[in-house]
Amino acid sequence: MKKFTTVDDIQDLDDLLTLAKKIKAAPFAHPKKGKNKTLGLLFFNPSLRTRLSTQKAALNLGMNAIVMNLNTEGWTLEFEEGIVMDGNSVEHIKEAAQVVSQYCDIIAIRSFPTLTDKQKDEEEHVISAFLKYAAVPVISLEGSSEHPLQAVADALTIAEYKTVQLPKVVLTWAPHPKALPHAVPNSFVKMMQLANVDFVITHPEGYALNTEFTNGVTITQDQDEAFANADFIYAKNWSSYNDYGKILSKDTSWTVTTEKMALTNNAKFMHCLPVRRNMIVTDEVLDSDNSIVIAQANNRTFAAQAVLTKLLDNGK
Ligand code: CP
Repeated sequence: MKKFTTVDDIQDLDDLLTLAKKIKAAPFAHPKKGKNKTLGLLFFNPSLRTRLSTQKAALNLGMNAIVMNLNTEGWTLEFEEGIVMDGNSVEHIKEAAQVVSQYCDIIAIRSFPTLTDKQKDEEEHVISAFLKYAAVPVISLEGSSEHPLQAVADALTIAEYKTVQLPKVVLTWAPHPKALPHAVPNSFVKMMQLANVDFVITHPEGYALNTEFTNGVTITQDQDEAFANADFIYAKNWSSYNDYGKILSKDTSWTVTTEKMALTNNAKFMHCLPVRRNMIVTDEVLDSDNSIVIAQANNRTFAAQAVLTKLLDNGK
């Protein structure tokens, strides 16, 4: 593996999940793998899980981890090529990425979409610029269109908790007061197409995801129908893709409740977190034994450690 900015960078999912399971069983088995190597974590947006789990994964491998909140602590970066920099931007990504590459052996970046400029978001302009100018491997800590580390943790969690060979996994839209990105559902959709599952997406009218991700997937606007016999319910909000970045509905009849979960095959409840209680999901469901969100978040470390291991091994 030379980079990890999309689920498409996974060459063999079974192999990656086997490695993640092995790491989970013995997280400190290779304390010298990352010796004298440095992971630079650059954040343009807030984080709890991604930041701490990826740092912890690096430390478990004996790697140094340095973190910078670029949006508040760094110079304002310019990403446009050939521009006269007479505005607010102080430093061009061309220099910044090359300089950071001298300090770090792997660069990991979180950069959310604008949700107003669809073209810019789809070009993944921040991570693409690092890929272009950095001299070391780049990891996405969530970009405009994908959150691949989350998707690896999600796949690992489903593999651990499934009780049937071909579980039914449902990705359901749920209401939220803010306009949220498409990165988590997009990567989850890609991952479920790689995994051995019966996958269904359910969302209200106007919330279709980019068809480049959902092509071939069963999609219904009937949430009850989708929940029938499900083994996993993965709840997530996203803003409209077609009416880009807009909130078209806050319909709480889409909130995941005990009544909805009763339609399932005693399904496990999943969410990437952070989650808005009693908007996305009721307290009752989130606090129930069927909720595996904490275990899912725990798997972020082992997913990140598996990806770091692959990148470090490739660098040998
Ligand atoms: N799921 C996730 O990416 O969490 P954070 O935003 O807290 O990193």
